[in-house]
Amino acid sequence: MENTTPKLLLPEIEDYHRLEVYRQNGGYEQFKKALQMSPDEVIDVVKKSGLRGRGGACFPTGLKWSFMPKGNDKPKYLCVNGDESEPGSFKDRQIFEYNPHQLIEGILIAAYAMGITSTYVYIRGEYHKWINLFQKALDDAYEAGLVGERIKQTFGTNFSTEIYVHKGAGAYICGEETALMNSIEGKRGYPRVKPPFPAQNGLWGMPTTINNVETIATVPAIFKIGAEQYAKIGAEGHPGTLLYGVSGHVNKPGVYELPTGILLTELIYDICGGVPGGKKVKAVIPGGSSMPPLRGDEIEGVRMDEESLKKLGTHIGTAGVMVMDEDTDIVAVTLRIAHFYHHESCGQCTPCREGCGWMEKILKRIANGEGTSRDLDLLVDVANNIEGNTICALGDAAAWPVRGFVTKFRDEFEKAVKEKRVFVAPNVVHGKRATKTNLIFDENLEYKPAM
Ligand SMILES: Cc1cc2nc3c(=O)[nH]c(=O)nc-3n(C[C@H](O)[C@H](O)[C@H](O)COP(=O)(O)O)c2cc1C
Ligand code: SF4
Repeated sequence: MENTTPKLLLPEIEDYHRLEVYRQNGGYEQFKKALQMSPDEVIDVVKKSGLRGRGGACFPTGLKWSFMPKGNDKPKYLCVNGDESEPGSFKDRQIFEYNPHQLIEGILIAAYAMGITSTYVYIRGEYHKWINLFQKALDDAYEAGLVGERIKQTFGTNFSTEIYVHKGAGAYICGEETALMNSIEGKRGYPRVKPPFPAQNGLWGMPTTINNVETIATVPAIFKIGAEQYAKIGAEGHPGTLLYGVSGHVNKPGVYELPTGILLTELIYDICGGVPGGKKVKAVIPGGSSMPPLRGDEIEGVRMDEESLKKLGTHIGTAGVMVMDEDTDIVAVTLRIAHFYHHESCGQCTPCREGCGWMEKILKRIANGEGTSRDLDLLVDVANNIEGNTICALGDAAAWPVRGFVTKFRDEFEKAVKEKRVFVAPNVVHGKRATKTNLIFDENLEYKPAM
């Protein structure tokens, strides 16, 4: 299939990650353009573009920026969220590797628009390679006088801003925006109760905006092609291009930049070469492991944008698309996801701490051939009691996939319960290839042979 999508985030230009190549292709000119406008006009451009956050919640970016108080009486901060720890999400690292200067330029534009004094780019702790690559690009930008005090001299402006790289603390919860701020402050990554919202009381109690890496890296592209043009790409209401990270049972997994609103089937079959062995799709998670799944027989005609997916009871999330073929054991998948969220719950609030534990325990019971039909209703009940009753959205993130899988694949769960079927291990267990097929879980969710 011919692909005519504009490559706004990952242009096919050799060595684009290098400062000189980025500048030869118009790099840092958009920041110059923004400096000719007032900060409010810059925010208006972002509003008009229709850009919505790429970190999962799809919040309108220009609107978020407009919540920041005006005036320079206090320091103001921007946190760029590159924690990227959600299973199925692996797109921000492409920007760190292939287009770091567009991210830096986006930070400069955002900083000018909101009067930001310092930006912290929070990068997942395990991303050693990408931390080093981004730090190198940032060092080059500092050396060239594009960041820091020397902005004034280079661009003939009174504005300047600093950018720092902050290594993540190795926990999924640190990607939640308020936990991220605590982590930067050197505290435990506990989410904070909102309100107060970060724009009023954020990092060190100062006004703060948190945006995803892809969101910020998109901003120079909007200035380059114009907000009206950008708003025409992809789906109305959720325009632009997305970095779709496709994993699981497809022939060509990877990160693809394509417009919002493309057909899910086009993504799976045309872009990613279909399912290995020509097998059928059993399930798809459209936006990272926290999103409710779609059944394989539901995916025809589904468009990949927030408004379309919302109508189907799910969300675009991080556009991390996980494809599962007809042989996938849905009970095993649900248990694995529940284990992740139980493990990552910070434990501050009861519904999440206890509920995640209960969901995992019940699922383990079913996977070990000891479940009952009542357990299926109990799972949905526990998920319902977590949803909306917690400090942060990790509770919802844990509840949605479990409720979604149990509801949409009830037949499989019923069968597992009825047949007292002991869970069949997937091929890969904690990075190791399983040698036996009839394995059950022990207390630590490690596999042991079934007696
Ligand atoms: C448990 C949890 C983990 C999260 N992890 C990330 C992450 O790794 N990256 C990210 O951008 N947003 C993450 N988010 C969403 C952030 O809280 C926040 O909404 C986002 O960074 C805002 O950026 P955006 O408006 O540009 O999307 C997470 C949220 C939760 C509840
Ligand atoms: S919802 Fe879970 S992760 Fe979030 S604050 Fe509560 S216990 Fe912690």
